[in-house]
Amino acid sequence: MSSAKRALISGATSGIGLEISKKLISLGYIVYGVGRDFSKCNFKEESFVKIELDLKEPKTIEKSIPKEIDFDLLVNAVGVGIFEPFEEINPKKIDEIISINLTSSLIITNLLLRGLKRQKGYIFNITSIEATKSSKFSALYSATKSAIRAFSHSLFEEVRKSGVKVVSINPDMTKTPFFDTLKFQCSEDSECYINPKEIANFIEFALSSDFVVTDITIRPQKFGIVKKSQ
Ligand SMILES: NC(=O)c1ccc[n+]([C@@H]2O[C@H](COP(=O)([O-])OP(=O)(O)OC[C@H]3O[C@@H](n4cnc5c(N)ncnc54)[C@H](OP(=O)(O)O)[C@@H]3O)[C@@H](O)[C@H]2O)c1
Repeated sequence: MSSAKRALISGATSGIGLEISKKLISLGYIVYGVGRDFSKCNFKEESFVKIELDLKEPKTIEKSIPKEIDFDLLVNAVGVGIFEPFEEINPKKIDEIISINLTSSLIITNLLLRGLKRQKGYIFNITSIEATKSSKFSALYSATKSAIRAFSHSLFEEVRKSGVKVVSINPDMTKTPFFDTLKFQCSEDSECYINPKEIANFIEFALSSDFVVTDITIRPQKFGIVKKSQ
């Protein structure tokens, strides 16, 4: 069996998860990427193992995740945005967003944790700036992201003795397809958004450190969004 390190990354078909996948492969990892549609990512590497899975359905996760592998690294990057008046979001949608943004990451972490402990591994949870502040129309999204951030901090206290490191990365506006389904997008001014490569660069830095940065908020210098025409 190969001695290469192994990472599992949810949300690996685009944006932040895809950039982290590329970075880890460049560092010699075998990456098991999870997402629904790999046809859109046009990234073919022998070390990129694609797991097509809809994380909206938590019951299907256990049989699709290779839990027999002792992973060195887990990145929970899956997530969708929703920024609407709360009363206009129907209960089915609330359940769906919680499944994708929160439940799936908790289940994947639960399934892989024993192996991560054996490897003294790393868990990176991609939360959001919305986990650190309060914004209008972000109640549901913030609820999921704050929960993942709290989960990260608590889990680190639980597993630090075993050598596992748990990090909450809280990005501000990052230029990815995240905004495709939203009514606004990043400004074109490059000072108003983060390049997802920078988040992957932070992970490289974290992996080379002897300490644990348990919580990091990454922000562009300036604020700027553009409302899309309806
Ligand atoms: N972009 C930002 O400004 C920003 C800021 C703060 C935090 N974040 C967070 O960063 C993370 C990554 O987002 P991104 O910006 O990289 O957006 P993105 O490019 O839209 O990536 C989202 C990823 O999640 C996957 N995904 C969505 N629904 C899924 C489902 N039902 N089942 C399986 N996979 C699913 C997508 O894959 P498929 O569509 O192929 O399934 C994709 O790989 C998210 O958790 C997001 O909340 C983003």
